[in-house]
Amino acid sequence: MLKKYYIRTYGCQMNVADSEIVDAILTSRGYVKVEEMYDADIVLFNTCSIRENAERTLLFKLDSVKGLRRQCHRKIVVGVLGCMGQLQGERLLKHEQIDFIAGPDEYRKLPDIILSFFEDKSHEKELATQLSTCETYSDISPLYGSAVSAFIPITRGCNNFCSYCVVPYTRGRERSRDVDSITKEIKKLSDGGCREVTLLGQNVDSYNYNGCNFAQLLDTVADVDKHMRIRFLSSHPKDFTKEVVDIMSKHANICKYIHLPVQSGSNKILKAMNRPYTREDYLAKVKMIRDVLGEGVAISTDLMCGFCGETESDHNDTLSLMEEVKFDYAFTFAYSERKGTYSAEHMKDDVDADTKRRRLDELIGLQCRHSLFRYKQCIGKEYEILVEGPSKRNQNEICGRTDTYKMVVCKSEKLNVTDLIGKMIKVKITDCTSATLIGECV
Ligand code: 5AD
Ligand code: SF4
Repeated sequence: MLKKYYIRTYGCQMNVADSEIVDAILTSRGYVKVEEMYDADIVLFNTCSIRENAERTLLFKLDSVKGLRRQCHRKIVVGVLGCMGQLQGERLLKHEQIDFIAGPDEYRKLPDIILSFFEDKSHEKELATQLSTCETYSDISPLYGSAVSAFIPITRGCNNFCSYCVVPYTRGRERSRDVDSITKEIKKLSDGGCREVTLLGQNVDSYNYNGCNFAQLLDTVADVDKHMRIRFLSSHPKDFTKEVVDIMSKHANICKYIHLPVQSGSNKILKAMNRPYTREDYLAKVKMIRDVLGEGVAISTDLMCGFCGETESDHNDTLSLMEEVKFDYAFTFAYSERKGTYSAEHMKDDVDADTKRRRLDELIGLQCRHSLFRYKQCIGKEYEILVEGPSKRNQNEICGRTDTYKMVVCKSEKLNVTDLIGKMIKVKITDCTSATLIGECV
């Protein structure tokens, strides 16, 4: 009998890409995906562990599984995948609603693990959390959620051990996927009508496959289909090179957008975070990027406040770095201690919650001003956008992104929104908010 599964994904784009790999693995073995948990025989949660609130979400969701099990009279198997499963597998497995755990490198086992629960009614709970040094799933063609835009992992794991971060523990050692499988995947996507790929890695700049570095990989993939947009995420300031920027400048289809997490503007805090660059190094890289690609390039970042030992003066250093760069976007976080990381084990989480909250508000407030500043610079200019669909607010408006990842909403009285999905159209920007550009088709 066909077994129906439901998968819910939390966290970063890497988890989204992993769920698409899981979809491919399960459907190739006859499992059928359903969109509603209430229709499923198998419920999977692909979890995130990066901050504390990500974990609370799972515990909340498990309550609805309890309700589902009470209501329906069929067997339901529940699995926790992803980073939280990897990190807290043994503890989580004690939860009455969880049957098995599978960490990020164990997804090939999923069909058999699930099957054993249905074949053997008294099957014991199962824990699969072996990390691998070589698994890249490169032979698996994911079942992409979007026909227009796709995530392609190029590395897995992380070797950087930033002192606050669990990723090196949840996703293991860094490994690069072979160039050939990446280009073949992009060719296949291009043939299927996909218009944009995002190369994913915790630190794409440390990509290295048999001597091919990230700049060389970019150069190769940009040639696969010159009309396909290429994005990448995330870059690490210590590894990001001018060679990459030169390749970006060489190819029109490589989007002029760089996500370059700085975390803090204070050299003392960067050192404590084990981020081996200084504020001055970071600002020099930003200048190099703008010198080569022009002021039109978009730069975004991750910022964290309230890290161990962060004083008001350190926090002001972050605000002043923001003023100097004027990021297009920033993802802002308050430090949350993660068990097992260097900072949790050896440093004191000594910034109180109110101060973290207030500093976070200051980061958000300043970033709003800077985003508005960057968006206003677009008014009066023309851009190509890749149409994603109707805008959320109004079905008669289309929305899509510029190559710098800015969302544009555009009236489309004479245009059919559905026909335009996946097409590049030219728009002129007439107005903006701090999160959206407003345009008209030209
Ligand atoms: N607390 C708060 N934010 C964190 N991040 C990573 N670990 C933590 C943590 N323990 C943030 C960093 C990283 C982004 C993905 O999440 O800014 O770049
Ligand atoms: Fe975490 Fe640092 Fe690796 Fe990013 S580079 S995943 S912040 S350890």
